Amino acid sequence: MKLEIAVLPGDGIGPEVIGESVKLLEVLGQRYGHRFVFSYADFGGISIDKHGEALTGAALEMCRGCGAVLMGAVGGPRWDDPKAPARPEDGLLKIRKGLGLFANLRPVKVFPMLLDASPLRRELLEGVDFVVVRELTGGLYFGRPKRRWQTARGWRGVDTLLYTEKEIERILRVGFELARQRGKKLTSVDKANILESSRLWRQMATDMASHYPDVELRHILVDACAMRLIQRPAEFDVIVTENMFGDILTDEASVLTGSMGMLPSASLSGVPREGSTAFGLYEPIHGSAPDIAGQGIANPLATILSSAMMLRHSFGLETEAAAVEAAVMRVLESGYRTRDIMSLGRKELSTTDMGKAVVGAL
Ligand code: IPM
Ligand code: MG
Repeated sequence: MKLEIAVLPGDGIGPEVIGESVKLLEVLGQRYGHRFVFSYADFGGISIDKHGEALTGAALEMCRGCGAVLMGAVGGPRWDDPKAPARPEDGLLKIRKGLGLFANLRPVKVFPMLLDASPLRRELLEGVDFVVVRELTGGLYFGRPKRRWQTARGWRGVDTLLYTEKEIERILRVGFELARQRGKKLTSVDKANILESSRLWRQMATDMASHYPDVELRHILVDACAMRLIQRPAEFDVIVTENMFGDILTDEASVLTGSMGMLPSASLSGVPREGSTAFGLYEPIHGSAPDIAGQGIANPLATILSSAMMLRHSFGLETEAAAVEAAVMRVLESGYRTRDIMSLGRKELSTTDMGKAVVGAL
């Protein structure tokens, strides 16, 4: 089977971690009889330098023509000037909106052998395995008006938290469907005590729950959820929430595992139902880490695990996805680590050697 993948390595450590993922996919393809075809495009800061914008229209079209997008990371101090006409983050928002990637899945699963890297006590973390479903193309990120203006009494700024029924419906559906495929517990996060958009959200979640009698729905306010994530993280199964709340909660959640360099993500343009696939973009949740770029020490595992999510959600290759995940677990069990997750008595590997170790464990 021929599988077309758009590759956006991006900035900083992006190209290094993407390189390992691509090598792994090539080996996997030979092993399982798939032909992966990779098409590359500039993305983020490097694209601003070369083309004046973070993502060109041609690059976006190239992505649209593929079955999935594999992305590294964008940004760096060189492009940080808030007054610059183009910013790497623009590329992210453009590709999310342009490709309709409304459902961002961020799994948070602790790796038993890395528990000591977490700032939380071990007993709080045992069994932590949940996924945050973050709405990605609505809310404050995109709502209009969005502007800054001067008045006689000083500057004003406005952002708009707008959600349509259709947007809420489809993201809640992702939450319910995923919960159904997992532990059957869905936590809907909102701020219904204050926000009108949240009251609409909560009502729709309650209504939809009657179509999913097998899923237990619970509502929680976002501030309480932030607390709960630290106090009892093992309680969660699937969390569904709007764009900005999801942005904040997923950074918080990523710290639980103590290994940011391990966490993958998927952004889908459809509902991931059992036995069906959706177009998606896959990326590690860690950033471009400019401080360690080019040193060959970045952890490629989050990107490798993202490509496993790609195999599963966009290509329907569950066996292959599970094989990649199992290979990563075996490498960790053998005591191999990159510097970010290194601890006493383990063997430290470079980015490329870690990539090779995973290939070897396949
Ligand atoms: C994320 C990031 C992005 C976001 C930024 C870089 C635009 O924080 O993917 O969580 O806010 O969505
Ligand atoms: Mg974020």
